[in-house]
Amino acid sequence: MGAIRRAAVIVTGASGSAYGLRAIQQLADAGVEVVAIFTPTGEAVARHEVGLVLGADDRTAALAKFLDLVPSARLRVADDADLFDPVASGSNALDAVLVAPASMGFLASAAAGLAADLAERVVDVALKERRQVVFVPRETPLSLIHLRNMTTLAEAGAAIVPAMPAYYTMPKSVDDMVDFVVGKVLDVLGLPHTLFERWAGGTDA
Ligand SMILES: Cc1cc2nc3c(=O)[nH]c(=O)nc-3n(C[C@H](O)[C@H](O)[C@H](O)COP(=O)(O)O)c2cc1C
Repeated sequence: MGAIRRAAVIVTGASGSAYGLRAIQQLADAGVEVVAIFTPTGEAVARHEVGLVLGADDRTAALAKFLDLVPSARLRVADDADLFDPVASGSNALDAVLVAPASMGFLASAAAGLAADLAERVVDVALKERRQVVFVPRETPLSLIHLRNMTTLAEAGAAIVPAMPAYYTMPKSVDDMVDFVVGKVLDVLGLPHTLFERWAGGTDA
Protein backbone atom coordinates (compact mmCIF):
# COMPACT_ATOMS: atom_id res chain seq x y z
CA MET A 1 0.00 0.00 0.00
CA GLY A 2 1.63 3.24 -1.14
CA ALA A 3 1.50 6.55 0.67
CA ILE A 4 -1.63 8.60 0.14
CA ARG A 5 -0.79 12.01 -1.23
CA ARG A 6 -3.95 12.80 -3.20
CA ALA A 7 -7.46 11.69 -2.36
CA ALA A 8 -11.05 12.40 -3.31
CA VAL A 9 -13.79 12.52 -0.73
CA ILE A 10 -17.21 12.10 -2.29
CA VAL A 11 -20.18 13.20 -0.19
CA THR A 12 -23.35 11.59 -1.51
CA GLY A 13 -26.99 11.91 -0.53
CA ALA A 14 -27.08 9.44 2.37
CA SER A 15 -27.61 10.73 5.86
CA GLY A 16 -24.33 11.31 7.71
CA SER A 17 -22.66 14.20 5.85
CA ALA A 18 -20.59 14.66 9.01
CA TYR A 19 -18.59 11.53 8.18
CA GLY A 20 -17.37 12.92 4.86
CA LEU A 21 -16.74 16.38 6.24
CA ARG A 22 -14.73 15.12 9.20
CA ALA A 23 -12.73 12.91 6.84
CA ILE A 24 -11.95 15.88 4.58
CA GLN A 25 -10.76 17.82 7.63
CA GLN A 26 -8.57 14.97 8.87
CA LEU A 27 -7.03 14.25 5.48
CA ALA A 28 -6.31 17.93 4.82
CA ASP A 29 -4.80 18.31 8.30
CA ALA A 30 -2.60 15.29 7.56
CA GLY A 31 -1.23 17.08 4.49
CA VAL A 32 -3.15 15.01 1.94
CA GLU A 33 -4.29 16.90 -1.16
CA VAL A 34 -8.09 16.56 -1.11
CA VAL A 35 -10.56 16.91 -3.95
CA ALA A 36 -14.05 17.15 -2.43
CA ILE A 37 -17.00 16.22 -4.62
CA PHE A 38 -20.59 16.72 -3.50
CA THR A 39 -23.34 15.04 -5.48
CA PRO A 40 -26.35 17.38 -5.79
CA THR A 41 -28.27 15.38 -3.17
CA GLY A 42 -25.13 15.11 -1.04
CA GLU A 43 -24.88 18.88 -1.02
CA ALA A 44 -28.58 19.26 -0.15
CA VAL A 45 -28.37 16.74 2.71
CA ALA A 46 -25.21 18.40 4.08
CA ARG A 47 -27.02 21.71 4.07
CA HIS A 48 -29.97 20.13 5.89
CA GLU A 49 -27.95 18.13 8.43
CA VAL A 50 -25.00 20.35 9.28
CA GLY A 51 -25.82 23.72 7.71
CA LEU A 52 -23.05 23.62 5.12
CA VAL A 53 -23.71 26.17 2.36
CA LEU A 54 -21.18 25.96 -0.45
CA GLY A 55 -22.89 28.56 -2.62
CA ALA A 56 -22.06 29.31 -6.23
CA ASP A 57 -18.91 31.43 -5.98
CA ASP A 58 -15.79 30.22 -4.20
CA ARG A 59 -17.03 26.82 -3.07
CA THR A 60 -13.58 25.72 -1.91
CA ALA A 61 -13.26 28.77 0.35
CA ALA A 62 -16.76 28.11 1.73
CA LEU A 63 -15.83 24.52 2.60
CA ALA A 64 -12.48 25.49 4.11
CA LYS A 65 -14.19 28.08 6.28
CA PHE A 66 -16.86 25.63 7.41
CA LEU A 67 -14.21 23.05 8.34
CA ASP A 68 -11.94 25.61 10.00
CA LEU A 69 -9.18 24.81 7.53
CA VAL A 70 -6.64 27.34 6.40
CA PRO A 71 -7.40 27.84 2.69
CA SER A 72 -4.64 26.18 0.68
CA ALA A 73 -4.01 24.65 -2.69
CA ARG A 74 -4.36 21.24 -1.04
CA LEU A 75 -8.17 21.47 -0.82
CA ARG A 76 -10.44 21.86 -3.82
CA VAL A 77 -14.17 21.44 -4.30
CA ALA A 78 -14.66 19.97 -7.77
CA ASP A 79 -17.88 20.31 -9.74
CA ASP A 80 -19.76 17.00 -9.88
CA ALA A 81 -21.13 17.96 -13.29
CA ASP A 82 -17.67 18.54 -14.79
CA LEU A 83 -16.41 15.41 -16.49
CA PHE A 84 -13.53 17.50 -17.87
CA ASP A 85 -12.05 17.86 -14.37
CA PRO A 86 -8.41 16.67 -14.18
CA VAL A 87 -9.26 13.81 -11.80
CA ALA A 88 -11.77 12.34 -14.27
CA SER A 89 -8.95 10.60 -16.14
CA GLY A 90 -7.15 7.38 -15.27
CA SER A 91 -3.94 9.08 -16.39
CA ASN A 92 -4.30 11.33 -13.34
CA ALA A 93 -5.76 8.83 -10.89
CA LEU A 94 -5.91 9.68 -7.21
CA ASP A 95 -4.22 7.51 -4.58
CA ALA A 96 -7.46 6.97 -2.68
CA VAL A 97 -11.17 7.64 -3.08
CA LEU A 98 -13.51 7.78 -0.10
CA VAL A 99 -17.27 7.85 -0.49
CA ALA A 100 -18.68 9.07 2.82
CA PRO A 101 -21.52 8.84 3.41
CA ALA A 102 -22.39 6.46 0.58
CA SER A 103 -26.05 6.27 -0.39
CA MET A 104 -27.55 3.05 -1.67
CA GLY A 105 -28.26 4.82 -4.95
CA PHE A 106 -24.61 5.76 -5.36
CA LEU A 107 -23.46 2.26 -4.42
CA ALA A 108 -25.76 0.87 -7.12
CA SER A 109 -24.29 3.23 -9.73
CA ALA A 110 -20.75 2.36 -8.69
CA ALA A 111 -21.45 -1.37 -8.66
CA ALA A 112 -22.92 -1.09 -12.14
CA GLY A 113 -19.86 0.79 -13.40
CA LEU A 114 -21.75 3.96 -14.23
CA ALA A 115 -19.65 7.06 -14.82
CA ALA A 116 -22.22 9.70 -15.70
CA ASP A 117 -20.92 12.42 -13.39
CA LEU A 118 -17.57 13.23 -11.80
CA ALA A 119 -18.27 11.36 -8.55
CA GLU A 120 -19.18 8.15 -10.37
CA ARG A 121 -16.30 8.54 -12.81
CA VAL A 122 -13.71 9.08 -10.04
CA VAL A 123 -14.83 5.84 -8.35
CA ASP A 124 -14.87 3.97 -11.65
CA VAL A 125 -11.34 5.18 -12.46
CA ALA A 126 -10.00 4.34 -9.00
CA LEU A 127 -11.38 0.80 -9.23
CA LYS A 128 -9.96 0.18 -12.70
CA GLU A 129 -6.60 1.66 -11.72
CA ARG A 130 -6.57 -0.49 -8.57
CA ARG A 131 -6.39 2.45 -6.19
CA GLN A 132 -7.81 2.41 -2.67
CA VAL A 133 -11.57 2.90 -2.64
CA VAL A 134 -13.53 3.07 0.60
CA PHE A 135 -17.30 3.26 0.92
CA VAL A 136 -19.06 4.32 4.13
CA PRO A 137 -22.62 3.12 3.47
CA ARG A 138 -25.47 4.39 5.61
CA GLU A 139 -28.81 2.71 5.36
CA THR A 140 -30.88 0.41 7.49
CA PRO A 141 -32.32 -2.11 7.04
CA LEU A 142 -30.39 -3.36 4.02
CA SER A 143 -32.11 -5.07 1.10
CA LEU A 144 -30.57 -7.96 -0.80
CA ILE A 145 -29.87 -5.48 -3.61
CA HIS A 146 -27.86 -3.26 -1.25
CA LEU A 147 -25.94 -6.25 0.07
CA ARG A 148 -25.21 -7.53 -3.43
CA ASN A 149 -23.96 -4.13 -4.58
CA MET A 150 -21.61 -3.95 -1.59
CA THR A 151 -20.38 -7.45 -2.36
CA THR A 152 -19.74 -6.48 -5.98
CA LEU A 153 -17.75 -3.45 -4.89
CA ALA A 154 -15.77 -5.48 -2.34
CA GLU A 155 -15.02 -8.03 -5.07
CA ALA A 156 -13.80 -5.16 -7.25
CA GLY A 157 -11.30 -4.23 -4.53
CA ALA A 158 -13.15 -1.60 -2.50
CA ALA A 159 -13.34 -1.57 1.28
CA ILE A 160 -16.77 -1.32 2.85
CA VAL A 161 -16.62 0.55 6.19
CA PRO A 162 -20.24 0.90 7.31
CA ALA A 163 -21.25 3.87 9.43
CA MET A 164 -21.43 1.70 12.55
CA PRO A 165 -19.99 3.46 15.58
CA ALA A 166 -18.87 1.24 18.46
CA TYR A 167 -19.95 1.65 22.07
CA TYR A 168 -17.03 0.02 23.91
CA THR A 169 -15.22 3.35 23.49
CA MET A 170 -17.93 4.96 25.65
CA PRO A 171 -18.77 7.78 23.23
CA LYS A 172 -19.94 10.94 24.99
CA SER A 173 -21.13 12.85 21.95
CA VAL A 174 -22.22 12.53 18.36
CA ASP A 175 -18.79 13.86 17.42
CA ASP A 176 -17.19 10.90 19.25
CA MET A 177 -19.34 8.52 17.21
CA VAL A 178 -18.47 10.26 13.94
CA ASP A 179 -14.79 10.14 14.90
CA PHE A 180 -14.93 6.41 15.52
CA VAL A 181 -16.19 5.73 12.00
CA VAL A 182 -13.77 8.20 10.39
CA GLY A 183 -10.95 6.69 12.43
CA LYS A 184 -11.80 3.25 11.04
CA VAL A 185 -11.66 4.72 7.54
CA LEU A 186 -8.22 6.20 8.25
CA ASP A 187 -7.11 2.81 9.61
CA VAL A 188 -8.12 1.20 6.32
CA LEU A 189 -6.24 3.88 4.41
CA GLY A 190 -3.19 3.31 6.60
CA LEU A 191 -3.14 6.87 7.96
CA PRO A 192 -2.26 7.53 11.61
CA HIS A 193 -4.86 9.28 13.76
CA THR A 194 -6.00 9.87 17.32
CA LEU A 195 -9.73 9.91 16.64
CA PHE A 196 -10.49 7.15 19.12
CA GLU A 197 -8.67 5.30 21.84
CA ARG A 198 -7.51 1.81 20.91
CA TRP A 199 -8.91 -1.09 22.87
CA ALA A 200 -6.30 -2.11 25.40
CA GLY A 201 -8.12 -5.12 26.82
CA GLY A 202 -9.58 -5.54 30.28
CA THR A 203 -13.03 -6.07 31.71
CA ASP A 204 -15.17 -4.67 34.52
CA ALA A 205 -16.75 -8.07 35.18
C1 LIG B 1 -32.57 13.89 4.17
C2 LIG B 1 -32.26 12.68 3.34
C3 LIG B 1 -31.62 11.62 3.92
C4 LIG B 1 -31.32 10.48 3.16
N1 LIG B 1 -30.69 9.46 3.77
C5 LIG B 1 -30.32 8.38 3.05
C6 LIG B 1 -29.56 7.34 3.66
O1 LIG B 1 -29.21 7.38 4.83
N2 LIG B 1 -29.17 6.31 2.87
C7 LIG B 1 -29.49 6.23 1.55
O2 LIG B 1 -29.08 5.28 0.89
N3 LIG B 1 -30.24 7.20 0.93
C8 LIG B 1 -30.64 8.27 1.67
N4 LIG B 1 -31.35 9.28 1.05
C9 LIG B 1 -31.79 9.12 -0.33
C10 LIG B 1 -30.71 9.55 -1.33
O3 LIG B 1 -30.34 10.89 -1.11
C11 LIG B 1 -31.24 9.39 -2.75
O4 LIG B 1 -31.41 8.01 -3.04
C12 LIG B 1 -30.39 10.04 -3.79
O5 LIG B 1 -30.95 9.84 -5.08
C13 LIG B 1 -29.00 9.49 -3.79
O6 LIG B 1 -28.23 10.18 -4.73
P1 LIG B 1 -26.68 10.38 -4.59
O7 LIG B 1 -26.28 9.71 -3.35
O8 LIG B 1 -26.08 9.75 -5.81
O9 LIG B 1 -26.47 11.84 -4.52
C14 LIG B 1 -31.68 10.42 1.80
C15 LIG B 1 -32.30 11.53 1.21
C16 LIG B 1 -32.60 12.64 1.97
C17 LIG B 1 -33.28 13.81 1.32
